[in-house]
Amino acid sequence: MSVPETSLTLLLRDELATATLAAALAPCLGPGVRLYLSGELGSGKTAFTRALLRALGHAGRVRSPSFTLAEPYHLSRFALYHFDFYRFSDSNEWREAGFEEWLGDDTAAVVEWPEMAAGTLPAADLRLALAATDDPQQRQARLDADSARGQAWLSALAGRVARGELDGISCLAPSAPPC
Ligand SMILES: Nc1ncnc2c1ncn2[C@@H]1O[C@H](COP(=O)(O)OP(=O)(O)OP(=O)(O)O)[C@@H](O)[C@H]1O
Ligand SMILES: [Mg+2]
Repeated sequence: MSVPETSLTLLLRDELATATLAAALAPCLGPGVRLYLSGELGSGKTAFTRALLRALGHAGRVRSPSFTLAEPYHLSRFALYHFDFYRFSDSNEWREAGFEEWLGDDTAAVVEWPEMAAGTLPAADLRLALAATDDPQQRQARLDADSARGQAWLSALAGRVARGELDGISCLAPSAPPC
């Protein structure tokens, strides 16, 4: 049996590749799934989430939650809440804002700037950190799994990248198989 992946670093050629990554992960989303997105301002967290929602069948607008803090999406199978905690200044503000039930077992949650609630948020299934490179269209994407199902998703993703199934996405680490 192969060892499950706990982390994976990918190179995303352009924004389409970021959308391809989002579409590859979309089938993993469901009630109780938590995905935390890190990276500097403009690194692509909202662009990734927009593509994720499109892949999940949401046809309407996807607004950045930078100002509203939370945007709800009632998808066909489950509800997904898209959060942005950038404006929080202490790590309990997300609870005080009443967001606790939306980060529980009944809904999917995608959180930008989870660092602003460090130490108080429940564990993620997957953490995705996006970083700029010298090429303005390119991003480096580091994925870390913090649950058993997150590890299974990463292993499946690594296999797909290794087989060249995901256009515009290459593997930086691990460099050993399966990548
Ligand atoms: N490979 C790429 N992946 C994602 N976005 C890209 C890529 N290349 C260029 N971009 C552009 O980078 C910008 C990313 O902005 P976005 O709002 O998604 O960032 P963000 O990480 O959510 O920032 P913030 O922390 O301010 O919410 C968009 O203008 C997008 O078109
Ligand atoms: Mg954003």
